[in-house]
Amino acid sequence: LARGVTEPDLRGRHVVVSAGGTREPLDPVRFLGNRSSGKQGYALARTAAARGARVTLVSANAGLPEPAGVDVVPVGTAVQLREAVLKAASDADAVVMAAAVADFRPATYAAGKIKKKDGEDPEPIVLVRNPDILAEISADRARPGQVIVGFAAETDNVLANGRKKLDRKRCDLLVVNEVGERKTFGSEENEAVVLGADGSETPVPYGPKEALAETVWDLVARRLG
Ligand code: CTP
Ligand code: CA
Repeated sequence: LARGVTEPDLRGRHVVVSAGGTREPLDPVRFLGNRSSGKQGYALARTAAARGARVTLVSANAGLPEPAGVDVVPVGTAVQLREAVLKAASDADAVVMAAAVADFRPATYAAGKIKKKDGEDPEPIVLVRNPDILAEISADRARPGQVIVGFAAETDNVLANGRKKLDRKRCDLLVVNEVGERKTFGSEENEAVVLGADGSETPVPYGPKEALAETVWDLVARRLG
């Protein structure tokens, strides 16, 4: 098919995409968050729908318009994202974890707003680990042959760190991108390498997040057979 023509190669498939960034509340007005815009995850959801898939988009604080024909499940925290992803993944052919999941959350939540006290230093914030959703769904696949994709933004030794991460998480594909000035956070464009558990490396040149999304679905569709 010519470039720009969408082949419905995901028809009859259910895919789950997580997008955005989790927020871990400290009190009713404050949270620990991250810079993920959600744009890459939304591009993945749109392109999968255009290729004929039924799409569940688990969206953490993205604040983007709902893509047409996509089932959006809004979540806030990593724990909520885990629950929504596990539920949607139970009958999914593929799961793509594009969301930035907070590694830690505050150990306690203050039901009332945390206030300053005259002449006193603030209490330190104690953190606890969040569950690793990608590792969990990869180790315990809801379906045989389910294809699982992770994302990793790295600042140094991008490929070596990516390969280690892929081995550790036991997913099938890991999209690795280098965090840089024009790249990744909030931008419309992205550049990446997709590492496969089979040892493959698929470079994706700097370009729109849609193009990276299409490459991810090409690799997923090939693995689904
Ligand atoms: N991820 C996840 N659950 C977590 C943390 C990360 O499912 N608690 C997923 C992300 O959605 C992403 C992949 O794991 O697809 C890699 O995230 P990353 O933060 O790069 O991996 P970490 O194992 O948290 O490693 P690091 O210490 O470098 O942050
Ligand atoms: Ca992390």
